Amino acid sequence: MFTGNTARNYDSWYETKQGRFIDLVETEAAFDLVTLSPGARILDAGCGTGNFSIKLAEHGYLVTGIDLSSDMLNIARKKCMAKGLKVDLETMNIEHLLLPDNYFDAAFSMAAFEFIADPEPAYRELSRVVKPGGQILIGTINRDSLWGKTYMEEASKNPDSVFKHAYFKNLEELADVDRINLRASRQCLYVPPQAPEEYFDLEHETRLAADHTGGFIICLWQKPY
Ligand SMILES: C[S@@+](CC[C@H](N)C(=O)[O-])C[C@H]1O[C@@H](n2cnc3c(N)ncnc32)[C@H](O)[C@@H]1O
Repeated sequence: MFTGNTARNYDSWYETKQGRFIDLVETEAAFDLVTLSPGARILDAGCGTGNFSIKLAEHGYLVTGIDLSSDMLNIARKKCMAKGLKVDLETMNIEHLLLPDNYFDAAFSMAAFEFIADPEPAYRELSRVVKPGGQILIGTINRDSLWGKTYMEEASKNPDSVFKHAYFKNLEELADVDRINLRASRQCLYVPPQAPEEYFDLEHETRLAADHTGGFIICLWQKPY
């Protein structure tokens, strides 16, 4: 699904004002939630073209990025090489990680659980490879938001939409994968998709947070000791 032209064109979205803004609010929300020690070993599950893997590696963390799509991973490899960053990038399914138990300090998965029908076994895989006391962070589009509804509508009209293969979740469903070890949850992306371009800034994001539902949801769990 993230192959060929979809993979080649993926990063161009980050170059639009909307794409840059979405990336900024999602990155801030995720990095705000998680607490990582210097040199932590991190798994970026569903890393795509390396957006989060690169940010994590630039912070000095030891990053392994995995993704189903070798086309996305090849782009990630070129970007890491151009930046002189060492990131281990491997083709793998989040639902069947070929990685040892209790190995990472944290597992991140941003914008990939949209494409996973049943989040619970995939979450258990992430938890398995994280050390006791380690963190698992999952961020995904909120089905109950205008963003979720817009993407679902897009998928119903456009046969080439990647969201044809999406299974959107709401915050309750995401949190339900493991209520006991849930430590925090957050919404972001309050500016609605139909907003004029000049609304895509932090001032509007803060103002709209009061009475809008976030388009992106993030949950953080801690694996028990
Ligand atoms: C929307 S992209 C997000 C990429 C990146 N995390 C980011 O934030 O830019 C979703 C990625 O998840 C990957 N993906 C979807 N299902 C997956 C699975 N079961 N295992 C591994 N990767 C998966 C896709 O191949 C794609 O590269």
